[in-house]
Amino acid sequence: MLEPLFVLVLQLSAVCIQAQLLVGFYDSSCPRAESIVQQSVMMAIQSNRPLASRLVRLFFHDCFVQGCDASILLDSTPNNTAEKDSRASATVGGYEVIDAAKNTLEAVCPGTVSCADVVALAARDAIFFSGGPHWDVPTGRRDGLVSQASVVASNLPDPSFNVDQSTASFSAKGLSQSDLVVLSGAHTIGFAHCGAIMNRFSANGSDPTLDPTFGKMLESSCPSPSPDATKLLPLDVLSNTIFDNAYFVNLQAGKGLMSSDQALFTDPRTKPLVNAFAQNANSFSANFQLAMVRLGQVQVKTGSDGQIRKNCRAINS
Ligand code: HEM
Repeated sequence: MLEPLFVLVLQLSAVCIQAQLLVGFYDSSCPRAESIVQQSVMMAIQSNRPLASRLVRLFFHDCFVQGCDASILLDSTPNNTAEKDSRASATVGGYEVIDAAKNTLEAVCPGTVSCADVVALAARDAIFFSGGPHWDVPTGRRDGLVSQASVVASNLPDPSFNVDQSTASFSAKGLSQSDLVVLSGAHTIGFAHCGAIMNRFSANGSDPTLDPTFGKMLESSCPSPSPDATKLLPLDVLSNTIFDNAYFVNLQAGKGLMSSDQALFTDPRTKPLVNAFAQNANSFSANFQLAMVRLGQVQVKTGSDGQIRKNCRAINS
């Protein structure tokens, strides 16, 4: 008899945990919190534009590995290799922007604003300063105590993935196939290294879903078998510094950079949404904001779970 009630209570408490993220969580405890983060992000992007896309990817990699708990910010220690030093997160960056915001926050309201919230707010602000939308970010996340390089690859989608594989990766985080499509639109800004596309070329020829001219250009930028490991390729060949819907227009033209991108147009289940977003920038923008809020809720720690780190790179001593 008690069993269903127990399950219901568990479900309700799960809902409450989610609900503890609130828009304006710091309104009374640290009223300047969001403007301090915004200022730090704006200054960083003004002097170094690629930091915008790095901050967005930082948020994604934080949330997909152990939830949005700033575990990606923790530095490795002599006894532990942290997430940021894993192969899959090796090219993630933007840490210094988070440090700058957090230093100011600690001076103004010590021990109050979590690093996990700084990451979430910084991603929103980076998109805004790249010409994208601005939305309310629910806050109140707490920082995790654990960061392990060994669990990173298994929690993140790989650029060689087809739609089934990417969907499974998102579904493991409580996100839908539509979330996969709309959030992949973040690839409207930023860069990838040659390593992310080498699976598209083999001795038997290049990926047939590639536009032939675009494919040749990529092959000459990243010659097999040993491309320049430092070479950067724009994720959006039309406008990779501007947050717009051009990513989806590129997919329609066979100019998606990675297999996981182009697969969204090839697969009949996701193609209609790609076409819709390519046609309607406002629809992409509106759906993207909602999906970013959902991404920001993945396995969050709230209440008395975790801690508010003083320094985002280390757990409190
Ligand atoms: C199937 C899903 C995804 C895959 C396979 C994927 C994979 C990748 C890879 C391989 C790179 C290039 C890394 C490098 O070579 O340095 C990249 C870059 C990037 N990703 Fe994703 N990603 C996915 C989804 C997302 C999502 C959901 C977001 C954010 C909401 C995101 C944001 C970014 C951004 C902004 C960059 C550019 C980073 C920079 O310029 O430094 N990605 N992604």
